[in-house]
Amino acid sequence: MHRFLAVVFVLSCSAQTPPARIKVDVDRTIGEVDPKLFGNFAEHLGRMIYGGIYEEGSPLSDKDAFRTDVMDAVKKLGVSILRYPGGNFSSGYDWKDGIGPKAQRPTRPELAWHDLESNRFGTDEFLKYCERIGAEPYICINAGLGTVDDARQWVEYTNESRHTYWADQRRKNGREEPYKVTYWGLGNEIDGPWQLGHKNAEDYSKFAVQAAHAMRLSDPSIKLVACGSSNYGADWIGWNRTVLTALRNQVDFIALHTYIGNRENDLERFLGSSQRIDHYIETTAGAIKAALTGINNPRPIYIAYDEWNVWYRAQNDQHLEEVYNFEDALAMGMFFNSFFRHADVVKMANLAQLVNVIAPIMTNKQGLFLQPIYFPIAEYGKQRGNVALRAWVSSPTYTLNREQLPYLDVSSSYSAKDRAVYVNVLNRSKSQDISARVENQQGALSSNVDVWQMNYPDLKATHTFGDDKKVVPSTRALQAAVDKNAFAYTFPAHSLTILKLHVE
Ligand code: AHR
Repeated sequence: MHRFLAVVFVLSCSAQTPPARIKVDVDRTIGEVDPKLFGNFAEHLGRMIYGGIYEEGSPLSDKDAFRTDVMDAVKKLGVSILRYPGGNFSSGYDWKDGIGPKAQRPTRPELAWHDLESNRFGTDEFLKYCERIGAEPYICINAGLGTVDDARQWVEYTNESRHTYWADQRRKNGREEPYKVTYWGLGNEIDGPWQLGHKNAEDYSKFAVQAAHAMRLSDPSIKLVACGSSNYGADWIGWNRTVLTALRNQVDFIALHTYIGNRENDLERFLGSSQRIDHYIETTAGAIKAALTGINNPRPIYIAYDEWNVWYRAQNDQHLEEVYNFEDALAMGMFFNSFFRHADVVKMANLAQLVNVIAPIMTNKQGLFLQPIYFPIAEYGKQRGNVALRAWVSSPTYTLNREQLPYLDVSSSYSAKDRAVYVNVLNRSKSQDISARVENQQGALSSNVDVWQMNYPDLKATHTFGDDKKVVPSTRALQAAVDKNAFAYTFPAHSLTILKLHVE
């Protein structure tokens, strides 16, 4: 920051009135914080499945070859819904290779990530894993090289209760009861030229309408996710418009994907990526509205942000084993704040990915460690009300892409049952603590405030095996000096804070 500006900033911070204000009001609701916002993603890629959640012959694995140490960490992460099997992988995958006796499953070339696929982990293993971790399964069909009938038969295999060919194959493979998979993705990033079976919007829509129709005839209760655009350099809005118009009577969600990075080593720009995320959400929400206009009693369509994360250091040859630092942990709060602020339209979100591959959990043969991003992801799922509130924020700002961006990036939620208001605050300033007056509009604020915070002097601090206790959250019970239903709180520079307020 320029020296003069910094002096002005510090002076205003130290004045009587805090320079920032955050107002919460339990009457100003946005929408339900959908439990599916705390989803995750498991792709056949690098060491995500093999050596990640599944390792045959490991003393750390159970009888199903699930790594129990990993499963424990996954359960504590609070994964509500798990997307599978890809990603780019899905566009070349034949699900029939991954069922039945393991010795008879074929090894195939894996074209998306230039690997070999042994198929020793497949549909039954995935669905069993979901049941063990208590997550809803979400399967992405092959809309690249696959066929409509492959997709339909996959639904029959997992969901059919009558004695049909594929339901009986499932029984033969040890599962009597249908798995009842509700969420199905109609392909992955088909607008990307990198995708196997890449199509234009019209061709994709034609395929997806037919697949949706056939899959729903197999099970009318399923919910479908259209493949939204991920190719932001191209006409991504046009793609979404075409797909939404063609699929508006068929789908329940449209997917968005976003990866961010800090190549310029500019923290405030990096944490200002919320500009883009908000823009993608709001533009797509507009496209949904436009597509549903004029339709009698339309099927509501929501956004599934089914791939999101920081990803820019580890490229393909490293199997995407991104090492996350403290500033990346802050970015997790930024993503969730945006999802909460759009809780009326974003009804699913899946961090990409769960283990080893751009992931919060890293393994080797002997154990695992938790990356700094693990903690905010777990916390946002735990510390929240079921309803998002529209917080009013007045904060010092900085200029990014010609826009004034508040240093304090805020979201809020409310639990009527617990009479608790959660205020999630990311201070994006690299160097300035920001003092704020936190004001409550409805009900009397108790002086008991629970504080969860992540703050660390070194933005680039990382974890590794045997050293993962550094960049971790702290918690404390604060006795706030409540005055006129408000109190002052100072958010340290580059920090992420969740305040739990109790309202009587
Ligand atoms: O998550 C890694 C990859 O990123 C996924 O396979 C693909 O969908 C996206 O481009």
